[in-house]
Amino acid sequence: MTTDALPTTSLGRALVHAPGTPDAAWWRDAVIYQVYPRSFADASGDGIGDLAGITARLDHLADLGVDAVWLSPFYRSPQADAGYDVADYRQVDPLFGTLDDFDAMLDRAHRLGLRVIVDLVPNHTSDEHVWFAEALAAGPGSAARERYLFRAGRGVDGAEPPNNWQSIFGGPAWTRLPDGEWYLHLFDSRQPDLNWEHPEVRAEFEDVLRFWLDRGVDGFRVDVAHGMVKAPGLPDWAGHVSMIEGVDDVSPTDPVDRADEVTGSGNQGPMFDQDGVHEIYRAWNRVLRQYDGDRAMVAEAWVEPLSRLARYVRSDEAQQAFNFAFLAAGWDPAALRDVVTSSYGVNDAVGAPTTWVLSNHDVVRHASRFGLSTPTARPNGIGRADEQPDEALGLRRARAATLLMLALPGSAYLYQGEELGLPDHTTLDDTYRQDPAFFRTGGAERGRDGCRVPLPWSAGEPAFGFSPSGVTWLPQPAAYAAYAVDAQRGVPGSTLETYRAALAARRSEGLGTGGLEWLEELDGGDVVAFRNRDVLVVANLGSAPVELPADAAVLLASVDVERDATGGLVLPADATVWLRAGA
Ligand code: GLC
Repeated sequence: MTTDALPTTSLGRALVHAPGTPDAAWWRDAVIYQVYPRSFADASGDGIGDLAGITARLDHLADLGVDAVWLSPFYRSPQADAGYDVADYRQVDPLFGTLDDFDAMLDRAHRLGLRVIVDLVPNHTSDEHVWFAEALAAGPGSAARERYLFRAGRGVDGAEPPNNWQSIFGGPAWTRLPDGEWYLHLFDSRQPDLNWEHPEVRAEFEDVLRFWLDRGVDGFRVDVAHGMVKAPGLPDWAGHVSMIEGVDDVSPTDPVDRADEVTGSGNQGPMFDQDGVHEIYRAWNRVLRQYDGDRAMVAEAWVEPLSRLARYVRSDEAQQAFNFAFLAAGWDPAALRDVVTSSYGVNDAVGAPTTWVLSNHDVVRHASRFGLSTPTARPNGIGRADEQPDEALGLRRARAATLLMLALPGSAYLYQGEELGLPDHTTLDDTYRQDPAFFRTGGAERGRDGCRVPLPWSAGEPAFGFSPSGVTWLPQPAAYAAYAVDAQRGVPGSTLETYRAALAARRSEGLGTGGLEWLEELDGGDVVAFRNRDVLVVANLGSAPVELPADAAVLLASVDVERDATGGLVLPADATVWLRAGA
């Protein structure tokens, strides 16, 4: 037991983040739901989700109580990286529908009171973009090649790549053309990196922003937001960057420190987090300000430490940045406490909201990660031959982690299906895999398909209601039936109803614009405990039950809260509770 059951009123508090004003701009406290269009809902029956499918299911999101929706890319694309390879930034891919379908979806969302942000992919285009086709046709030394990063090779006959950079998806970051030149691609070879020193590239993306702003979008999620500007001369760097957490497996002999001196960046190497990238955000911020209604940008920047990340959300840059340090902390009390404290420290210093996220389309879902024997593990995909998560434990911890997250002041991101407690497909046959990371690593990384499986809407229908034809682009595990929306709606204590209740209480209690004080007598060891406005939040990440304050009244809990022999309230292991603070 961690307390002598003090009353809630006498708990000591340490202020970390002061409350804001309830009428702040929407993006300061919004809960934003990520729709992954391929896998949300399929209206056409081809087995791939589409915009009409999203429109038809927007009621689910309004009912859930989120404030906004972020759509992963639906633009014209050969789908070499599931749409993060854009061939035309102003067209909808026929897989997903038409621009009219987009307008209808946006209109329906706005009528339901949901804001909509769309994905912007500025670091690279598809190899099927008209600019890349022109560059290939025009040949070495042409003006058309200036829009990308073409270089001569090194060594005899230029047969070696221009530098030693590795692709984030595995293998070299350069591909050689039959005419002898090489081009840079930090991701797949079908995703050539743009040259952001080129004025036409800058002008084009400002125009793309205006195109979608004019159609009425509320903002943008900026893909690989720290990548557009590279260090001059593209110097060698022996590190390897992996998704989300940034640099990994850098050996002590790698020239990281020297690279830092040369580039002025954090510890990310010469392709990431260069100071020059901030000029792009300032320019985009000026574009957004020309529009009404608080349009916003969220930066997907895998930048460490958090103080470097906060530079992306200075008042004249992006409004938000994803807080991947929170996601990476796992189900670990010390790590969570640290990341919460430091996130508010750095973001408050620049006047930006802190954001929170546990799952997205690039990581194993938190319900599966937290069921692994190491609750901070973050494998890039889980396959048949890998350790299988404990599904019940993972779900229990995922629900607890979500209640902790949704009580934190700031803005929170939810990934589609997490409101159902959905696990990854962890036994997907490799023959179905589509993620380029799987192929470029020769299968060493299973990749991201497991978190991208189509959603289950109704337990008894073909494809669990995802598609009228029963076809799905990735197979759904049989276990998804139990997670279907219609199996949970109206069922007290279901994950769906717990999310709905949490979002309603978060709103009515003003938690998103609230403050954070650690509760000194409760917080520590396996317990993370804080106060936000009139709500006390206690998360028990240990294996022993924890006694709650004597006068506690339960608002919401991730599991049933028990009473001990003396009638006191006890929080079991791997659980979070929201309590009403005494008067
Ligand atoms: C971002 C996206 C990811 C994509 C990559 C390359 O990290 O979230 O899905 O593969 O960028 O565009």
